[in-house]
Amino acid sequence: MNVDALFKAEVEQKFPRLERLFEQAKEDFWNESTVVDWNQPIEMAPAKRRALARVLSIIYYGERAALEVAAQLVGMVEDEEAKFVLAAQVIEEAKHVSVFRRVLRKLDQIHPVDPWSRRVLSDLVRVKDPVAKLIGMQLIVENVANHLFVEIGKACQEAPLLRDVLQYVARDEKKHTGIAAIYLPKILAKASRLNLELVKLRQVYWAFCLDRTIYNHRHDADALGIDLFQAMIKGIQSQERIVESMGTRRGIWKNRVLEGISLRMYKKHSDERARAGGGAWTRAA
Ligand SMILES: [Fe+2]
Ligand SMILES: [Fe+2]
Repeated sequence: MNVDALFKAEVEQKFPRLERLFEQAKEDFWNESTVVDWNQPIEMAPAKRRALARVLSIIYYGERAALEVAAQLVGMVEDEEAKFVLAAQVIEEAKHVSVFRRVLRKLDQIHPVDPWSRRVLSDLVRVKDPVAKLIGMQLIVENVANHLFVEIGKACQEAPLLRDVLQYVARDEKKHTGIAAIYLPKILAKASRLNLELVKLRQVYWAFCLDRTIYNHRHDADALGIDLFQAMIKGIQSQERIVESMGTRRGIWKNRVLEGISLRMYKKHSDERARAGGGAWTRAA
């Protein structure tokens, strides 16, 4: 960063929506050690418990990467309002890491990282470009995580501890995609054409890695009663809504053909499962 900027007496306020997000972050602050009753048991069938632990382990490593990326971005962005909300995100991600570690130890164990998830998360931590970090982590990965929380929350109604934790975490994650929606248009406008093309190539790679991660866990989703085909459609629609709210598609990659191939794969799995199970998805799976 430009150190001289630190010593300007007055700072121009250019992002009132980021200021509001910062206020929201302070109001929403929660302490996982006190608001969650960690003594309550998690009552769940063993197969479902193990499947959930595998899925939440992906989240756990994702939270650790999100902590790193948010901390890196504090030093990379120029505008103070963006630094403030990202600094709030750092403490929120630290809490999420702590929360999911506690949940996983109570539920089962922390499972090894999925290799495809490791690839995308490693790339997001290693890449030096703030545009890539904001699109990859704040816009794409945070949105996938948000949807996962909603689906898992619906699938685990019998475990109040999980339901509470997921509600608190999801409230934070919504703010994190909000940072991308509000701040990305400014830094995308300043990015070079070459930079934008490179970021688009990275998005192809991330999309492939995320797709493999989700597909690798399709049987865990089955055990939880999550219909991945429907969940993917909702995730794609929500991603589109966020991009539309940005008012620009600069640097945003989307390929409907590849998206269609991926969706067909999940549809096939969904149909096969319905045939094998003799019908619908059941929450009691
Ligand atoms: Fe998080
Ligand atoms: Fe987050």
